Amino acid sequence: MFTIITGAQFGDEGKGKVVDMLAKEYDIVVRFQGGDNAGHTVVADGKTYKLHNIPSGVLFDVRLLIGPGAVMNPKILVEEIDMLAENGVDVTPGKLGIDAKTSIIMPYHMALDTLREEKRTVKIGTTSRGIGFAYMDKVGRDELQMADIAESDRFKRRMDEIVPQKESAIKEMNGDPSVVTSGLDEYHGIGKRLKPYITDVSLEVNHALAAGKKVLAEGAQGAHLDIIHGTQKFVTSSSTIAGYACAGLGVGPTKVDNVMGIIKAYITRVGEGPLPTELANEEGEHLREKGGEFGTTTGRPRRCGWFDLPLAKKSINLNGYTGFSLTKIDVLTGLNSLKVCTGYELGSETLGYPPELSDELARCKPIYREVPGWGGDISGTASFAELPGNAQKYVLMLEELMGVTIEYVSVGPGRKQTFKK
Ligand code: GDP
Ligand code: IMO
Ligand code: MG
Repeated sequence: MFTIITGAQFGDEGKGKVVDMLAKEYDIVVRFQGGDNAGHTVVADGKTYKLHNIPSGVLFDVRLLIGPGAVMNPKILVEEIDMLAENGVDVTPGKLGIDAKTSIIMPYHMALDTLREEKRTVKIGTTSRGIGFAYMDKVGRDELQMADIAESDRFKRRMDEIVPQKESAIKEMNGDPSVVTSGLDEYHGIGKRLKPYITDVSLEVNHALAAGKKVLAEGAQGAHLDIIHGTQKFVTSSSTIAGYACAGLGVGPTKVDNVMGIIKAYITRVGEGPLPTELANEEGEHLREKGGEFGTTTGRPRRCGWFDLPLAKKSINLNGYTGFSLTKIDVLTGLNSLKVCTGYELGSETLGYPPELSDELARCKPIYREVPGWGGDISGTASFAELPGNAQKYVLMLEELMGVTIEYVSVGPGRKQTFKK
């Protein structure tokens, strides 16, 4: 069985929590895109794990993989491995595999990311993790791969070619070119440490599926941050939608069984770009404070808004979801009335689906349906029937409006705070 999980909004929907919840039913959990711009939170046994590279199934006895469509900062990865070891979780080469072709994020990618962002008159608000520049090198065929940093000869050969062009790129942006060569020994040292983890991810996943095993692909970011279909230019540099799991892992689309979308009961966004239902008032403040809406990777406050149906509909088209996990409905508790954006006004037009261009989306005015809220504490709810009537109605309304089954409902960050609808 092959299941793909992706974020249905702008990231931070609770993918880490849902992957942790489902992981025990799978043999392999694999990341297929993005890098340590991702911050996936798993809360288990009173501990909070913030994962950036390592798949969120790490607390279970499953094989973890990082595919060749991902970009990976080896320094952050070993920090994660060490953090997990301190918590009694051994991430051995038997547990984690990294594809030989996974693109490596180097300090010069991070430096270039920061320099470019400083110079942009219209900012993107990147995570400064070097993601865009690492993917530029992949597309430009100047990437450094996992296999390259693990072998002295390969590393030297690649760096001899790469160093001069990176130094000149950094100088051109008035940066300090010494960043290109200063940490090379350290990176090669990490590369040697990671050598036993190298594997062929496409082969492993295809073998597992052929043997009747279960594979869970864990997306990072969200549909509207997709490099092709998102709200350019305010997007990340990889394809974040379900179809890319196949391309990024090297698995045929005929192998996919389920595609699950993770979607919040409202919407958030970190960084710049249009967010039609954004609330710059006390309701937005309620969502941010109650939802703990601060970036897992950068700590930046997340922008919060009401649930946006047109964006959800687009996400359903982009991903072909077979089901949803709806997260964070507990955060809506205590608001007297709730709004759901069912369409937009754009000039004289009424739209039920987002316009394709970001500047047009930025001009959209939401059309709201207002529904009553609920009180009390729902974070201990263990079944749909136990939810207050208005919370049940809210979930059923979203399901009906989206036309896709909501399979799971999440009412808190912990493992016990989820139930099947
Ligand atoms: P991801 O990037 O999609 O994995 O999401 P993040 O981990 O960046 O952000 C989601 C945040 O919400 C984390 O702090 C989770 O622990 C938390 N969370 C997940 N599901 C729920 C939920 O149903 N209710 C509440 N209150 N918090 C949740
Ligand atoms: P997870 O996997 C939310 C956003 C950044 C910025 C834009 C581009 O935790 O959901 P980048 O560094 O990727 O070039 O930044 O994308 N962004 C995310 N927002 N969750 C994420 O990941 C994100 N990863 C990148 O804030 O707006
Ligand atoms: Mg996150």
